[in-house]
Amino acid sequence: MKARDWDKLAAAYEAEVCDIFVRDRRQVIARWLQARGLLRGRKTLLDLGCGIGSFIKKYGRHFGDKTGTDHSRAMLRIAAARCRRLKDCHWLQADAQRLPPALRDRGDLVVCSNVITFVSAAACVRALRLVVQCTKPGGRIMLIQPALESHDAVVALETGRTTPRRVQAAIVRRDDRMQRFFTREGAAALARAAGLRSVQVRKVWYPWIDEGITRVPRGHELPWDWLVTARR
Ligand SMILES: C[S@@+](CC[C@H](N)C(=O)[O-])C[C@H]1O[C@@H](n2cnc3c(N)ncnc32)[C@H](O)[C@@H]1O
Repeated sequence: MKARDWDKLAAAYEAEVCDIFVRDRRQVIARWLQARGLLRGRKTLLDLGCGIGSFIKKYGRHFGDKTGTDHSRAMLRIAAARCRRLKDCHWLQADAQRLPPALRDRGDLVVCSNVITFVSAAACVRALRLVVQCTKPGGRIMLIQPALESHDAVVALETGRTTPRRVQAAIVRRDDRMQRFFTREGAAALARAAGLRSVQVRKVWYPWIDEGITRVPRGHELPWDWLVTARR
């Protein structure tokens, strides 16, 4: 999707798209940030493809200098308004596939959530390499990636059809756009292909209603995204 398509989505985004930072009811993300000491010491934060600024709004007060980038001007405008009470916030229009050199080695933590979902596998690796370059050497990277196993479980529940197991990734149509969804293995492989170290992949569960499902048979695991964490 192009920047202008995201511009059109921006106004409805808060109501229509699952905000994983709010919907993470089991606090997997907050616990990871806390356990790594990232919520202390006013560290430098970059959120690449920040959308309407949800990560910065929720966690920004714990960080020092923080920058949200996005290619959509409309998203950035909403992000700046939602985070107006936070100090040391900067907003920058930038394409995640051509990040400006000024962002190099900048973040103690670099967040990139539900952005590296390009149809082309090579484009995903290229974009993640740029995310890595924006991280200080030894700094941390936090990605949220859509989970293919979760998508397949939702489809099975809705249609009764099971999908043969996929090894790394598949292209899925969601909200009228084609996106790359990753298996656990595929999410880890992407991170390693971009040269990351200490790669870990965890589930971040969100409510069924975010998949439009109101009745769920007992015993079904909640849907989830992958939280991929690593060090530069
Ligand atoms: C699904 S939203 C996620 C927003 C936010 N990271 C979050 O998790 O709440 C994807 C965001 O990535 C941005 N985006 C997609 N492709 C991009 C690109 N090539 N360069 C910069 N931003 C991009 C979109 O404009 C949108 O704001």
